[in-house]
Amino acid sequence: MAILLDSASVNDAAAAAELGFVHGITTNPALMARETKEPLAHLERLLSAFPSGPICYQPTRTAYAEVNDEARAAASLAPDRVVAKLPATLDAIKLAAALTDDGIRCALTAVYSPAQALLAHEVGCVWIIPYVDRAARQSVGGLVVVDALAAILARLQSSTRILAASLKSGSQLVESILHGAHDVTAPLEVLACLPAHPLTESAVREFAAAWPET
Ligand code: E4P
Repeated sequence: MAILLDSASVNDAAAAAELGFVHGITTNPALMARETKEPLAHLERLLSAFPSGPICYQPTRTAYAEVNDEARAAASLAPDRVVAKLPATLDAIKLAAALTDDGIRCALTAVYSPAQALLAHEVGCVWIIPYVDRAARQSVGGLVVVDALAAILARLQSSTRILAASLKSGSQLVESILHGAHDVTAPLEVLACLPAHPLTESAVREFAAAWPET
């Protein structure tokens, strides 16, 4: 199981690197647009701020010739760390097949159906990325989607992993793992709240009261 940060903020990346339990980063074009007008230069800043582990980079262009160029340029910055993240459309799946053949690791994102998972498996994607909270908001049921994806990947004995995304709370994150996600990605505020529990906090207060500072 791996926990990733879902953000394009360099400050978030540096803070996540200090937490000790964050394995990598996912970005998307909307998150990038909040931070920069030069996404590839910004990716280099993220690679420096978070110095090891995968960074899933989603190209900002939309015409597929340009998506191809941008994905390859991103991967060339750190071939062992950058994963090309592409929305699960037919064009993207074709591109993922070509990139994978050339040794560039790919993930399909915005995944909502077992058919998309099946194709991700066929073209050798390392991750499929279902959007749990977005599915829940549309009444599809975010965890129902994770269940279906986990079932088909298990049936195929696939090495493609489920990276649950669009997680808005610690309970959604934990439930995603319980429903078969291998890995999770969430904003810094969700990750930082994972250990929060009122009984832990009251125990800490009790222990501190036993040893008042002099
Ligand atoms: C995943 O990689 C995406 O960046 C993200 O989780 C999308 O979902 P959201 O916009 O609902 O947070």
